[in-house]
Order: sequence, then C-alpha cells, then structure tokens
Amino acid sequence: MKLDRLMARHAEMGRVAAVLAISAGRVRINQAVVRDRHAEVDRFDEVCLDSLIIQRPQRALYLMLHKPVGWLSATQDAQHPTVLDLIDDPDRTTLHLAGRLDRSTSGLVLLTNDGRWSKRLMAATFKVPKVYRLETHEIIPPSAVEALARGFYFHTENIHTLPATLEITGAREARVTLHEGRYHQIKRMFHRLGCRLTSLHRESIGQLQLPDSLPAGAWRALTPEEIQQALTPFGPTPQS
Ligand code: URA
Repeated sequence: MKLDRLMARHAEMGRVAAVLAISAGRVRINQAVVRDRHAEVDRFDEVCLDSLIIQRPQRALYLMLHKPVGWLSATQDAQHPTVLDLIDDPDRTTLHLAGRLDRSTSGLVLLTNDGRWSKRLMAATFKVPKVYRLETHEIIPPSAVEALARGFYFHTENIHTLPATLEITGAREARVTLHEGRYHQIKRMFHRLGCRLTSLHRESIGQLQLPDSLPAGAWRALTPEEIQQALTPFGPTPQS
C-alpha cells in the first residue's frame, strides 16, 4: 500500500493532511523519515507520525515443516487435518503455503505470511530442483530412466513435462528430481510406466534440505540465510 493511503486510512486524517505530514518530514517508516507519499509500505513495516505509532509491524514468519502422510497441504479443511494444525506459533493463522504436496506425500513444505517472498519463491521454485524419494508396488523398469528424461505429454493440461532425473536405488525404490510441480506429477508419470507408488517423500527444494533432526509433524523457523537461499537461482534448468 502507498504511504499516503495508509496514513489517510489509519491516522484518521484526510489524504491532503497525510500528504502534508509526509512532505513535512513528520512520518517515519522503520525509524527513517520518508517524504515520498508513494513509498510502498507493507504489514511488516512500522509507521509513525511524530511520536504516534500508526502501524505496528507484524512478525514475518518463514517456516519449514516435515509434512506427515495424511495431512492436507492447506490452511483449513472440514474433513482432514491440515499442516497448519501442526504449527503452534501464536501467529499461525497468518501463514500460507509456498507450494503443496499431495495428502499421501510426506516431506518438506514451506510456509510464510510474507506474500512477496512466497510469490518470488514460487516463481523460482517452479524451476529449482525438487528431490523426491519414492517406493513402488511393482519393480521399476530400467527404461523408466530414459522415459522420465524424455518427459511425458499430459493431455488434460496440454503440456509436456520437463526432463526429470530418475536414480533407481532398488528394485522398488528410486529418487526423482523434478524442475516443475505439475498436479500429481510423479504419480502420473509412474502410472504411465505401470508402477503404483506406495510412498512419496520430498527431501529438498533447491538448496533447502529437510534435516534429519526434523521428524514428521515437526517444524522450525528458516534461518535468515535460508530465507535468502530459497530465492537464489539454482543453476541451469532443463529445456523441454
Ligand atoms: N508428485 C506427486 O505425484 N505428488 C506430490 O505430492 C508431489 C509430486
């Protein structure tokens, strides 16, 4: 929101009085005098008029969570427990998810109340590698490696999936690296190969790894380095 609009709304003054106060140097954002009436202000900024606090800053939250199987990647649901039910922070209701996992998938999910961060992250994470560990009912055919590298055509969305990397780690287990996040993507790709998944778990998103110290259902705040790291572009991405 623009500074003059916020002032007019919250300082109980008209827009003209707000503009005059700003240009007179009476308004501070995070302790610094701002004379630009068009300066952008968000919920995480403190805004003062003289010694009066017009807006208290909201706590910005950036969390990683180990989603257990059975929990929904949503903030509320009438039927199933959601990942938000696992978070005991007093500001938990301000959170939203930066990317989802299926209910039957476990592993790393990120939550925040900073819409600008999640928007940038989603734009970046669409391309950053996401690594999944999986197990199947049927034996994984060796030809699956090439099939995932070639990609699949999904006619419902009319898209061809980007090359994905498959590392077969056992007769019925593998690790997949995706550079995108299509609906039920891994399940659908394996279905085409004649394999049903018995488990799917996300190990990492870009440089963010789910730590062993975080058991299913647990969460922790991201460090300031991790908040930045998550937005750092991650090497070349494959072309479809
Ligand atoms: N692919 C799937 O099929 N499900 C997920 O939750 C993530 C990737």
